[in-house]
Amino acid sequence: MVDKNSFEVTPWDVEGNVDYRKLIEKFGTERLTENLKERIHGNAGSKNFYIDRDFVFSHRDMDKVMEDYEEGDGFFLYTGVGPSGPMHIGHIISFKMTKWFQDNFDVNVYIQFPDDEKYWTRGNKYEDVEKFAQDNLKDVAAVGFDPDKTFIFKNTEYIGNMYKAATKVAKNINNSVVSAVFGFGSSTNIGLNWYPALQILPTFFEEGRCLIPAGIDQDPYWRIQRDIAPKIGRKKAAQIHNKLVPALTGPEGKMSSSKPRDAIMLNDGPEDVRKKVMERAYSGGQITKKEHREKGADLSVDVAYQWLRNLFLDDDQRIKEIGRKYNNGDMLTGEVKEILIEKLNSFLGEHQKRKEKSTKAKKKMMYKGKLAREMWNNKVEI
Ligand code: TYM
Repeated sequence: MVDKNSFEVTPWDVEGNVDYRKLIEKFGTERLTENLKERIHGNAGSKNFYIDRDFVFSHRDMDKVMEDYEEGDGFFLYTGVGPSGPMHIGHIISFKMTKWFQDNFDVNVYIQFPDDEKYWTRGNKYEDVEKFAQDNLKDVAAVGFDPDKTFIFKNTEYIGNMYKAATKVAKNINNSVVSAVFGFGSSTNIGLNWYPALQILPTFFEEGRCLIPAGIDQDPYWRIQRDIAPKIGRKKAAQIHNKLVPALTGPEGKMSSSKPRDAIMLNDGPEDVRKKVMERAYSGGQITKKEHREKGADLSVDVAYQWLRNLFLDDDQRIKEIGRKYNNGDMLTGEVKEILIEKLNSFLGEHQKRKEKSTKAKKKMMYKGKLAREMWNNKVEI
């Protein structure tokens, strides 16, 4: 447990109230500056909502990715999800980011499903991991990637094509590194000790620069990647990081599949959403109506307002207006929650419709599309 004023971010857990400025310093990443944001948007020819609202806030070598692109060298994208439960609204952000880059820069996407890692990490049985993977695969396919330029793979299935190249990555990572970076010790099973080689390997799937859109909690893997890439004559991977969506209950920790009552799951129906938001979403408003009208809400801790601002309401004028009225007591928590419920349900409704029709696209991205066929027909070489 961390003490009251501190926080801890690892690939498995987030504790405390994350101060993202301090986290940038701690992890040694860089803030996305206004200049860089403009450069990305300029090259893309459109604005990205999450970047614009600073929910995607940090990076490594994003300037180099833009330089490569401007000089015609291109880049490729890589991201992933561990099938340890149904996906929630936090998980989908890095996939939406990845799609935005693919749509606007017309590049290949590689998506890893580390079913092995989730079997090693949690008390899951393989049957459970497989069941979650099948459901998560449909969520990812529903995001709408280009089926001929996207390859989705499960580690246990694709390992034959990756194994030789992974041994080369593994040879460059020793136990003192994984214990320093991940805190692995004598009770860690040896599967987890080896796993970083497999999460790092896809950053070498192409010769060009790899860009990884992901939550900042995954950063420890990329620190190792950046350390070993020059040793094997390859490029250091670039990253663009999103913040971690907190649970409904407030700013501490992160939303997690293991606490579904405090998360909005991609499978939730309209009534689940209403119930969870009304009953569980932490309010920055005052206890009595009278007091609220006098003092207004603390927007910085209010879940409904923060989610609207960061994730679901792209109308700049409207969010400003809601912020002003809620902050001075003219709007009540219930009214702001109603707006969030409407936005969440329309987001989820559209996602679930696409998910129902995603089977064909999923098959293409895993086995039959142009990129998938190429990946299955060749061994990964480094
Ligand atoms: P996993 O399954 O924990 O998370 C998948 C992606 O979702 C992000 N994420 C969140 N983003 C916002 N709010 C949250 N509350 C939240 N919780 C999780 C994660 O940062 C991640 O981007 N080992 C990885 C799977 C993986 C991977 C990759 C991820 C394999 N290769 C390459 C990113 C890039 C994992 O278990 O992620």
